Amino acid sequence: MEFIAETIADLSPSLTLSITSQAKQMREEGIDVCNLGAGEPDFDTPQYIKSAAIDALQDGQTKYTAVAGLLALRKGLSKKLREENQLDYEHNEIVVNCGAKHSCFNAIMACCDAGDEVIIPAPYWTSYPEMVRAVGAEPVFVETKQENNWKITAQEFDDAMTGSTKMIIINSPNNPTGAVYSREELAAIGEVAASEDILILSDEIYEKLIYGESEHVSIGSISDEIRKLTITINGFSKAYSMTGWRLGYTAATKEIADAIDTIQSHSTSNPTTFAQYGAIAALTGDQSEITDMVEEYDIRRQYVLGRLNSIANVSTIEPDGAFYFLINIEKTGIKSVNFSEKLLSRMQVATVPGVAFGNDHSIRISYATSLPIIKEGLDRLEEFCKAH
Ligand SMILES: Cc1ncc(COP(=O)(O)O)c(C=O)c1O
Repeated sequence: MEFIAETIADLSPSLTLSITSQAKQMREEGIDVCNLGAGEPDFDTPQYIKSAAIDALQDGQTKYTAVAGLLALRKGLSKKLREENQLDYEHNEIVVNCGAKHSCFNAIMACCDAGDEVIIPAPYWTSYPEMVRAVGAEPVFVETKQENNWKITAQEFDDAMTGSTKMIIINSPNNPTGAVYSREELAAIGEVAASEDILILSDEIYEKLIYGESEHVSIGSISDEIRKLTITINGFSKAYSMTGWRLGYTAATKEIADAIDTIQSHSTSNPTTFAQYGAIAALTGDQSEITDMVEEYDIRRQYVLGRLNSIANVSTIEPDGAFYFLINIEKTGIKSVNFSEKLLSRMQVATVPGVAFGNDHSIRISYATSLPIIKEGLDRLEEFCKAH
C-alpha cells in the first residue's frame, strides 16, 4: 500500500532549510560554525513593529480575521503598491498569506493544473519546482547565463514556450544570484507573456534589498495588459526582518485573488491576527531602520565581492540585490553538494550547494550575518580553495 501521494512522494525537502538547521545544531553542540547558509536577516525585527503586535495581543486581537487579512492591512498594501510600485490593486485584489512561500504556493495551486508547464529560469529559488510538482504541473527550466547576469531573456522565454505553458516565474531581485531585472528586460518578457496570455508570477520578496544604481521595477507596472497577467508576490520577512512572523501577500486580478482566498479559506485561514497588526505598523512606520539595514548589507556585499575576487579557483558576479552571492566553483572540479559538505565538515563553514538552485557548479553564500562571521567564513573558504 502506497500511503504517500504520487505527486508528493518524489518531492525533496528544502535543502536550504536543512543546511541551516544542521549549522544551528553544530553551533548548539559547541562547534564554531560560520553560518553563511542562512537566507534570513540577522537583524531583529524593529521595535515599533514588535510593540504594535504586543499591543494588539494585549487588546485582545486574538480571534480570526477575514481569510484574506485585516481590511486595514489590505488597504495599506493597496496604497503601498500604488505609491511604491505603480501597481493599481484594490484591497479586494490583495490576499495576505502566511509568508511569501505560502503566497507562491497558493498562486501556483490556484492557477496550474496537472499537465501545465511553468517556466522557471535557473538558477532558481529552491522551492519553485517542488511547488509546481506538488500540484501535478511540470517545471520547465531555462538555463540562464552568467555572462547575462543570470537573467532570462525574452528570446529564451519565447523559445521555451509550448502550447502547455501556463506561467513563468520571475524573481527579481533574485535568490540565489542577486540579479535585478531592468525595466527594459521586464518589458520584453512581459510582451512575450502577453502575446500568448501566459501568467507571470512575480516574486518581489527582496524588493527593498537593492544596491547602487539598481532600481526595483514591478513587472505588473509596465502596462495594464501585463498587470492583468501578473501575480505580484511580496512580504515582510526579508525587508523588515520578520521571517518568523510568517506574513506575505499576493496581489492579482480579482478572479485570481478570489481563487487564492478560497484555497486559503480551506487551508490556513487568515495569517496570525496580532502579527497582521505588526505588519500594519511595518508599512506605516518610520522606514529609516530599513534603510540602515540595507546600508549595512551593502557594506558586507562590497566586502564579500572584494574577497571573492581574490580567492583562487572561484569566481562570481556582482549581485545588485538580495543578500546572496552565487559562487562558481567549477574550476575546483568538485560538485556542489560535495563542496558544501567538505566545507562544513572540514572548515565548519555552512553554505548551500548550488544543486538546490539547479546549478551544480556553484555554492551560495549569504551575507545576512555579521561582518566578523563573514570575514572568518571567507578566510576559511580561502584556505579550503587553496587546497583544491
Ligand atoms: C525568492 C524567495 N521567495 C520567497 C521566499 C519566502 O519568504 P517567506 O519567509 O516570506 O515565506 C524566500 C525565502 O527564502 C525567497 O528566497
